Amino acid sequence: MRLLKNLANLRQWRGQQQGSVALVPTMGNLHEGHLTLVKRAQQHADVVVVSIFVNPMQFGANEDLDSYPRTLEQDCRALEALGVNAVFTPQVEDMYPRGMDQQTRIEVPGISDILCGANRPGHFVGVATVVCKLFNMVQPQFAVFGEKDFQQLQVIRLMTQDLSLPIDIIGVPTARAETGLALSSRNVYLSESQREQAAVIYRTLAGIAEKINAGTSVEAARQWAVTELETAGFAIDYVEIRNANDLQPASATSGRLVALIAAKLGSTRLIDNLVINKD
Ligand code: PAJ
Repeated sequence: MRLLKNLANLRQWRGQQQGSVALVPTMGNLHEGHLTLVKRAQQHADVVVVSIFVNPMQFGANEDLDSYPRTLEQDCRALEALGVNAVFTPQVEDMYPRGMDQQTRIEVPGISDILCGANRPGHFVGVATVVCKLFNMVQPQFAVFGEKDFQQLQVIRLMTQDLSLPIDIIGVPTARAETGLALSSRNVYLSESQREQAAVIYRTLAGIAEKINAGTSVEAARQWAVTELETAGFAIDYVEIRNANDLQPASATSGRLVALIAAKLGSTRLIDNLVINKD
């Protein structure tokens, strides 16, 4: 496995590759969820590159950029064991040589301002910009993302379409712990008992799906979920049931729905979602 520490190394290595390339962008502290993405990438392409870059542009001023877990050695061991071809670990100066404020930005309007975008202004501009740059640097034919970050996946699909990028975007279902808790790098912030408590998020999503399938209205199911989460001690950012294809409010004629939750446990912000397949 090649460790590519800057853009020059990446470009040189990329020039030597034959066959199709898949990129798995990450911020590191890899867990089983990231590894499922890698395995899916290996099914699609001859060569797999994983990028590890904690992107300052997508963190708000009061967010966890400084404390975000960085575990490069451990991450590389896990990727090597899977047979990944290369790991790209650019530095902030590689990514933003003129500084973040001067950087050309990519904004996908509309979808970037709702849900997580409303709670985290500028977040999806940071995500779209770094992912677009990674696409241009790595020149992959495929890129793999998790459905865990459902809105992020939509932002990236739309960006790819809008900018006519010749890249297949592949979405992978969420990897979960036995309790249902979605695996996340931010779970390291949770204590043992908070981890148990955090499983309430998935149980609530499953409860919403059950209720909708049993004929409960979207608003009643949403209200029920809000009460469940508040009773369990969460500070809610949002609980929403939306159209899965565009994340707009669900209407009577909606097809596939998705329930989305963002909530804080102590100072840790957790997100999760569940697509509701109507019976
Ligand atoms: P990060 O949080 O490290 O996640 C990297 C990828 O792993 C994302 O596509 C995310 O959706 C996926 N992922 C995370 N947890 C998952 C789980 N439990 N099951 C399946 N997939 C999971 O998302 C980012 O980094 C960044 O925003 C990034 C896209 C790299 C841009 O900086």
